[in-house]
Amino acid sequence: MKLILLGAPGAGKGTIAKLLSEVDGSVQISTGDILRGEVEAGSELGARARGYMQRGELVPDELIMEMMEGRLRRPDCAAGFLLDGFPRTIPQAEALAQLLQKLGIALDMVVNLEAPREVILERLTTRRTCENPDCQAIYNIRSKPPRVEGVCDRCGGAVVQRADESEEAITQRLETYMEKTAPLADYYLKQGLLLRVDATSSEKAVAAVRERLRSLLERSKQ
Ligand code: AP5
Ligand code: MG
Repeated sequence: MKLILLGAPGAGKGTIAKLLSEVDGSVQISTGDILRGEVEAGSELGARARGYMQRGELVPDELIMEMMEGRLRRPDCAAGFLLDGFPRTIPQAEALAQLLQKLGIALDMVVNLEAPREVILERLTTRRTCENPDCQAIYNIRSKPPRVEGVCDRCGGAVVQRADESEEAITQRLETYMEKTAPLADYYLKQGLLLRVDATSSEKAVAAVRERLRSLLERSKQ
């Protein structure tokens, strides 16, 4: 499958992407995960992105597009991809459309994960993440704690709060989302690509995506 996952911070983009990638092996591409890896590795890109991320602001479009062009050209994308946290602005969406056209790739759909603000705030304050940049497994002290407190089930890495999980950064991330990213739902709705999904249940969200994929496949056979 070739999808974009849209949604506010904490809506569950990473969680749903991981579940969907288990369905058919499509690769999860999370711009947030890639950027956190770059920060951890101390690369030039990481150094440029770090301040924006810690403040809960967006990293400039040019840096993101350069990074994503390289990523989408990698051979593992041929089997399918789940774009988690990208695009996040109208200019990114327009640049992505040009890039996909150049690569001869058509998107199946754009999934908008929707959850009430109080659910989102609760999730962001109770989330924990594996700090190993190659893992970044997502946990939640309420709904999905690791088997051993503070230790990742998958890789044994330390499970911690992300650097952008201060109250101040969370408030800024939600504001940035409303201003810069929420308009993308309308942008993709007009293109007939949008699937709105209730993200309060991950199982139901995954089922809704699978159902839409099935009906797209049926339609393509007719
Ligand atoms: P990014 O890492 O993408 O952060 P975000 O958009 O703020 O989203 P989150 O990762 O916080 O939430 P999520 O939707 O993935 O939710 P999750 O599945 O973890 O970006 C970070 C920063 O990088 C940005 O602020 C920006 O600076 C920069 N950046 C990234 N992409 C960029 C771009 N394209 N352009 C410019 N800058 C960019 O779930 C949250 C919690 O809820 C977890 O604990 C999970 O276990 C729990 N949960 C999920 N679903 C359920 C459920 N159904 N029931 C109960 N609990 C659930
Ligand atoms: Mg995420």
